[in-house]
Formats: sequence, C-alpha cells, structure tokens
Amino acid sequence: MNKQILIDTVQQLFSEGKGLLAMDESTDTCNKRFATLGIPQTIEMRRKYRELIVTTPSLNESIGGAILFDETIHQQTKDGIPFLDVLVKSGIIPGIKVDIGAKPMAGFPDEKVTEGLDGLRDRLQAYKKLGIRFAKWRAVISIGNGIPTTGSIEANIHALARYASLCQEADIVPIVEPEVLMDGNHSLERCYQITAQVLKTLFYQLYVNKISLEGMILKPNMVIAGTGSKLQNSVEEVAEGTVNCLLESVPAAVPAIAFLSGGQSAEYATAHLNAIQTKFKNRLPWIVTFSFARAIQQPALDIWKGDKANVAKAQKALYHRAKCNAAARRGEYIA
Ligand code: 13P
Repeated sequence: MNKQILIDTVQQLFSEGKGLLAMDESTDTCNKRFATLGIPQTIEMRRKYRELIVTTPSLNESIGGAILFDETIHQQTKDGIPFLDVLVKSGIIPGIKVDIGAKPMAGFPDEKVTEGLDGLRDRLQAYKKLGIRFAKWRAVISIGNGIPTTGSIEANIHALARYASLCQEADIVPIVEPEVLMDGNHSLERCYQITAQVLKTLFYQLYVNKISLEGMILKPNMVIAGTGSKLQNSVEEVAEGTVNCLLESVPAAVPAIAFLSGGQSAEYATAHLNAIQTKFKNRLPWIVTFSFARAIQQPALDIWKGDKANVAKAQKALYHRAKCNAAARRGEYIA
C-alpha cells in the first residue's frame, strides 16, 4: 500500500470545493428507474443515458469524481470514445462500484448483507489497469421492528472493512458506505441512534483490519426521520443531528465525508448539506461534501425520458444540480 497515492487521490477528488457524482446504479436499479418513466430497459438505453451524463458540458466545475457501474466502464459514446476517456479528459476521476449487491441474510429475516469479496483482489487489479483510482461498496442497514440486529450490522461492517483493506492494498481509495435506509416510520432520534451504532462498529472494524483512515472516504446517510414518519424535522434539525452523530462517531483522521442522498428530494439533500456548512462549519474536522446519485440525476432523468430531443435540457438540469451541491459544500446554496 502506498499511503501517499491514496491521500493524493482523496485531495484531487475534492479539490476546489467539488463532490462526487454516483452513477453506479446496477442494471436492476437503473431499469427500475427507467420503468417508472416508460423508458425501454435495454443496454443501449442505459448506454445513451450514461453518455448524456458523462458528456454534460462543464460538469467538471462541480464534480471531481464519478462512480461507475461495471457495464458503463466498458461503454463508449456514439462516436466511439470510451466513457472513461471522456471523464479523464475533462478532469473527472473515474471510480467503480465493486460490491455485487445486498442479498437476503440467512437466518436474519428482513435484513441483508452485501456480497462481492470473492475474487475482489483480481477485479481491483483489472480496474486499476483501466485507470480506476477509487471504489465504492455499499452496505444497507434497515430500521424496523426488532431490526437492525447486531448480527447483521457486524456482518455488513466486517465485509466493508475487508473490502477497504483490499482496495488500499491496490492503492485504490475505498469509499466506505454503510447506509442506514430512510424506509420506515422511525424518528430522527432512532436514525441517530442506529447510525451512531453502525459508525462506531465500523471504525472499530477498520482499526482491527488496519485500514489507513487517511486513505479512505466515508459515505454515510444523513440523520433524518424515516420517509413514513409523520414528524419530519426542519432542515436545521437534520443538519444538527447529522453533525452531532458524525462528531461522536467518526475520527478526525478521516479526510472526507461525502453524503449519499438516500431518496431525499434533490432540493432537500442540497439544503441539508448547505445547513451543515453554514451552521456548523467551524466544528467539522473533515471535508464534508456530496456523493449523490438520485439528488443529482433525478431531475435530468425526468426531463430526458429516453428522448433524444430532451438531451440538452436534461444536461442543463444535471449541471444545475451538480452546481447547487458544490455551492452547498461552500455554504452558499440559495434554494
Ligand atoms: P443516492 O444518492 O441516490 O442515495 O445514491 C447514492 C449511492 O451511491 C447509493 O449507493
């Protein structure tokens, strides 16, 4: 492991107030999003959509890195230019999702464990040859009646730590993503309690597995009430709960925290990041930024709908959301 390479990659990803664009939806997830808009669920439509994203003019003003899915990494524009070349040429560092998804966990009803460790060392080497410098692995933790269990938290966190170790061995920065889902009618306080438990378990396992904290990125959920909860908190309360939870759980040696959006609307996700930066900036020992998928892409996807005539307008919407989030990282977002 060359620690300096990892540190340099993190710094480059987040230079000049930038964040990350997650465009690593698995085929199933991408197809589901297409289905709701009546877009044909074909490999060619997925390619066209990803071409729309990577060729969005001036996206590099706000985006330092893009997380891709394996299918996308091998694709090209209609003119035959590999997506990876388009990104690198515009100064956006390509990354890759390397987990193979959350699967039902045996013996733990309603809970999942993320798979993908088998053969990961070889896959990382192959991705590295393609120019990949960072990776992502997402664990999902559900809140509900009697869940999450300690068993599922520990299994998921152990896999995250093993993944991070393999990435660092290959000089690839691991994005470590333990997502506490928004599904359910739980309160912000319950989300806080579970997120803190998950993050404390995570940093203990990262320590046990000898992970260099300086060479990783944490991608957590914000601390927020479940989507089904009658009580939805103010933007300031979400920002305060999130910051307090992170301060009590995440070591200052971690260079950067880049949030997932988790199903929040694009505007709320940005407003929450902005409130974190405006109200609590002096308390944050880390770079705090975004690594959104839906909160950057959804407005553009809604406009595109699979129609060539809408590409330019969709790209404008994508550029706009990316710009808003970069403004929020500076605490300068105006809704
Ligand atoms: P959302 O921002 O849509 O939650 O996606 C982020 C992500 O990368 C999920 O793994």
